[in-house]
Amino acid sequence: MTQVLCLTDVIIDRKLRGQRVFIRSDLNVPQDSAGNITEDTRIQAAVPAIRQSLNAGAAVMVTSHLGRPIEGQFKTKDSLAPVARRLSQLIGRDIPLVTNWVEYGVSVSPGNIVLLENCRVNLGEKKNSDVLAQKMALLCDIYVNDAFGTAHRAEATTHGIAKYAKIACAGPLLMSELNALSKALANPKRPLVAIIAGSKVSTKLKILRSLAEKVDQLIVGGGIANTFMLAVGLPIGKSLADLALVGESRSIINAAQTRGASVPIPTDVVTAKTLVPGAQAQTKLVREVADDDIILDIGPKTSAELALHLEKAGTILWNGPVGMFEFDQFSNGTKTLSKAIAKSKAFSIAGGGDTLAAITKYGIYNNINYVSTGGGAFLAFLGGETLPAIEILQSRL
Ligand code: 3PG
Repeated sequence: MTQVLCLTDVIIDRKLRGQRVFIRSDLNVPQDSAGNITEDTRIQAAVPAIRQSLNAGAAVMVTSHLGRPIEGQFKTKDSLAPVARRLSQLIGRDIPLVTNWVEYGVSVSPGNIVLLENCRVNLGEKKNSDVLAQKMALLCDIYVNDAFGTAHRAEATTHGIAKYAKIACAGPLLMSELNALSKALANPKRPLVAIIAGSKVSTKLKILRSLAEKVDQLIVGGGIANTFMLAVGLPIGKSLADLALVGESRSIINAAQTRGASVPIPTDVVTAKTLVPGAQAQTKLVREVADDDIILDIGPKTSAELALHLEKAGTILWNGPVGMFEFDQFSNGTKTLSKAIAKSKAFSIAGGGDTLAAITKYGIYNNINYVSTGGGAFLAFLGGETLPAIEILQSRL
């Protein structure tokens, strides 16, 4: 279990009353073209740390990044204003949004809260500038990192400030993420089944390699499955694949098989000739995939077989939909697996933006034991990587 000082300890051991608390949350939520928030799980997940600090009488400042703005060039689209509005509704009071807060400082009184504008607009944030981190540390008495979604980044608000703040601790969301994910990996109830799907093997190579050494079944989907199909000599037509990583995919399959684990390769798929919303779907055996076919989902036979693995699993880790589930004709695979996960008695953990969208679409949120707020951080943790934001908190114990 990861050992770090947590906010609850600080609340118990010291009086937060009157202290200046700086909370780094991950409020990086998806927005539509008009700037409306389309999914607010991360904002909701940030609420407990804020409430605990306010209830303890602290003067609370919260910040987050939103997107990947250019440092030093604030644009309206980078603003946390929509987040401030949603957070105000959830906390039940008006939360002022403070701009230029590094330059001019922050004024907030005990029992009150302000939101500090997009931290990635500050010069030096992404490069983890010590000068910026020291300035930010001076704004507070206690630094709380509650941003699991950004824990794989060493930036000034996730890492540097934790070096210099008088007290640095983990918030309740960060703690519950670490506890749930450690539990699933350290001593999982078996069979341990992972679903790793997505467009590219390259972006998920580390986690695929790492999971091949741990899981009982490694289910692959999307472009990753296509690359694995090539690795076992199956045709994929014009489908998306990482041609340079076919050999690597073969060695992942071998690594799993050497341990007695399996990487189930689809036996049937759903294809189309073009990638447009109304495209005509055709179900076929994988051996029948033609040169001009694009694979866009796993087939019903494969879905049913994988669903059986999931229903019998002891632990399930899920990242990524197995097909283009946004289009109904290619959604059956993701829908079948979602329902199987929901039905399974396994301890289930899911993470990643697309996975969250599938969970919402199929209404299974309450049937998943733990839905992580992390995308890249979730994958990095499952892949056994050290997360810099956690490491620095550990060093402050
Ligand atoms: C995410 O959405 O995964 C996190 O907020 C991290 O964002 P980033 O990839 O821009 O660092």
